[in-house]
Amino acid sequence: MAKKTENQILVIFGASGDLTARKLVPALFNLFVSENLPKNFVVLGASRSDMSDEDFRKRVVTESKYLKDKREELNTNDLEKFANCFYYHDLGGSYDTDYSNLKKRIEDLKSKHNTSGNIIYYLSTPPSLYETIAQNLADAGMSTQKNGWKRMIVEKPFGYSLETAKELNNGLQKHFEEHQIYRIDHYLGKETVQNLLVTRFANSIFEPLWNRNYIHHVEITNAEDGGVEKRGGYYDKSGALRDMFQNHLLQIVSLIIMEPPISDAPEDIRDEKVKALRSLQIMKDEKTLFNNTIRAQYMPSTIDGEKVKGYREEEGVAEDSTTETYAAVKFFVDNWRWQGVPFYVRTAKRMPTKVTEVVIHFKTPHHQIFQDSGMSSKDNKLIIRIQPDEGILIKFGVKVPGQGFKVERANLDFYYADLAETNVMEAYERLLLDAMQGDATLYARADEVEAAWAFVDPILDYWANGKDVRMYGYAAGVWGPENADDLIEGVGFWRNPGPELTDEPGYCVLC
Ligand code: BG6
Repeated sequence: MAKKTENQILVIFGASGDLTARKLVPALFNLFVSENLPKNFVVLGASRSDMSDEDFRKRVVTESKYLKDKREELNTNDLEKFANCFYYHDLGGSYDTDYSNLKKRIEDLKSKHNTSGNIIYYLSTPPSLYETIAQNLADAGMSTQKNGWKRMIVEKPFGYSLETAKELNNGLQKHFEEHQIYRIDHYLGKETVQNLLVTRFANSIFEPLWNRNYIHHVEITNAEDGGVEKRGGYYDKSGALRDMFQNHLLQIVSLIIMEPPISDAPEDIRDEKVKALRSLQIMKDEKTLFNNTIRAQYMPSTIDGEKVKGYREEEGVAEDSTTETYAAVKFFVDNWRWQGVPFYVRTAKRMPTKVTEVVIHFKTPHHQIFQDSGMSSKDNKLIIRIQPDEGILIKFGVKVPGQGFKVERANLDFYYADLAETNVMEAYERLLLDAMQGDATLYARADEVEAAWAFVDPILDYWANGKDVRMYGYAAGVWGPENADDLIEGVGFWRNPGPELTDEPGYCVLC
């Protein structure tokens, strides 16, 4: 049975920004359509722009381009009902101000809509404002849980390094308790990412093999065909390692390497994830960092007859930028289960296609009976497709009909699209609903975030200050720099996947 969602108010700081219209409101729209919003519910957008309630409704609901197709799902009455949930409060020129007016506005809305004292504060502002907002809320007596719970959702980036992440955690924890803080990572809202837990712990056929005795190496690819689009200014200060690897990809890694939790209770799962992240072998010396990391930047190119800009030509990007748009890292996990198993993880923009997948490569059988089978180059693989064409593929050997024992690889596949349950929630929809219900399982805890930064920090430091550090180039639209496979030397090559799960590797778009 679906959990009950208590009446509440959602206050969005930074509500005039793109995220509110692009992600949050469409997620709320879906929750409205599926009748998952609480009975009494309002959204109060707060930011520094001068807007009326009506302006805000137009901007994020009735005239929003992000709801263009969705609006047709509702009749006029229901659309109006949804739009009427939205209110706006102008904070004046600064987020660092006295919040008593905001408090009064919330009190008024609470009485008018009977929403009770439950409040979620969603911080969709630059991270430099998080602590200021938390402090002003606390100073105005708006973090107290005496008259209803208070929760705070914070967007990434959560820190810029281990030190800044710790400062941020300490700063927020001065005003809110850890259990009130929800650090969002939208990858955890993806069904296929959550399914990593189910694949591992709801089956008995994978877990016995899920260790160094049977797994040869693990490969994770996160590729995007798009470039930095309009976010050059932000991205140039961030780069692929901070933007994708430290958060989304290390979250996926933690779900792959973690030990079985005692139960599916949020803290049981999060405890195991922290342990997993803490067991990543931190690379300390320059030689190790040189040998195990590759960074690169996309260069101008022509894709499908169209000229595509190089990274340094993008708006907001410095002409001599050394920010990586491609990051590949090889690492090990220092624990009993994973000792000696290499992990290869890469993320990049301007690749041939958009795809995220995990590939578990199994060892070849301990004793080769079929000497001439040609199977040694055809290891068993478990391919977990996070997106798109979501599903799971197992590659296994079958006998080629005829004399002798030649082996070929066959596919055993499952697709999410084949499931009868068609209402798959989008990431933000799922995560918002979880926060509304007080379920923090899919949110990152302070120690998780810090453990991830502890692993990433030395790489960033090496890339910024290392002696022999290199920045490679790759033409927009190819699978990274030419030497990308060097990282996997002796093991093989990256599996360069196509848009469909069963596409054979090597897919690329030819100009
Ligand atoms: C965001 C990054 O967190 O994730 C973006 O900031 C990236 O740079 C995006 O494009 C990718 O998300 P998804 O869900 O499209 O894979």
